[in-house]
Amino acid sequence: MKTFVATTAASLIVHHMGLSQPSSIPDPNSAPNGDVPSGPVVIVVPRSQTDWKKYYDLRWRVLRAPWNQPRGSEKDDREAESQHLMILGPNAQPVAAGRLHFNSPAEAQVRYMAVAPEAQGRGLGSAILRELERRARAAGAQSIVLNARENAQPFYARHGYKVVGSAPTLYDAIKHVRMRKDLNFAPVADRHP
Ligand SMILES: CC(C)(COP(=O)(O)OP(=O)(O)OC[C@H]1O[C@@H](n2cnc3c(N)ncnc32)[C@H](O)[C@@H]1OP(=O)(O)O)[C@@H](O)C(=O)NCCC(=O)NCCS
Repeated sequence: MKTFVATTAASLIVHHMGLSQPSSIPDPNSAPNGDVPSGPVVIVVPRSQTDWKKYYDLRWRVLRAPWNQPRGSEKDDREAESQHLMILGPNAQPVAAGRLHFNSPAEAQVRYMAVAPEAQGRGLGSAILRELERRARAAGAQSIVLNARENAQPFYARHGYKVVGSAPTLYDAIKHVRMRKDLNFAPVADRHP
């Protein structure tokens, strides 16, 4: 396992990336857009007012704007108690984000996973999800639940999440399923060497 640690004015940055998962490292040759990070992924915890503004802006742009939802709809009433992560592109704009909160000491929940369209499919969502899972485990959670959009269901399945029920349809348009991952029995592909 390699650990990348860096500091910026914004925050402390830590990311653990398994060497057995080279597909998680964005390939500069397949990233023609200058906004997509190349090399090791660096995950940032938003701290400053500017960080928070950019972080919520990404959530709104990816998860709400396509359905004509107003700014503010990208937040809920659990923001203050949640853990928030993002990945910045070379121009310091967030290209990936995700959030973790606890429903109980044993059960964590992931929400608001969002990767900018130009950065999708390059392992950034996986990097965020793995770090949220690591934090959930470290805090003692035994499972993680989430409501997955139908389009994202294969992504979560790839990470070991199983469908356990239905979940509300958002804006009469976006179907969701409830998924759960038992953190005590992570699939081999998800373990770091
Ligand atoms: C879903 C999302 C978070 C995934 O992040 P990402 O960075 O694009 O995904 P990754 O590159 O880390 O993909 C990891 C794996 O999942 C697969 N995957 C990702 N999105 C997928 C999709 N929509 N359908 C099928 N497979 C998908 C990838 O092929 C990859 O598999 P591999 O390792 O076998 O190649 C991101 O695409 C996104 O923000 N989508 C739009 C908003 C959304 O739906 N958010 C989820 C709300 S529940």
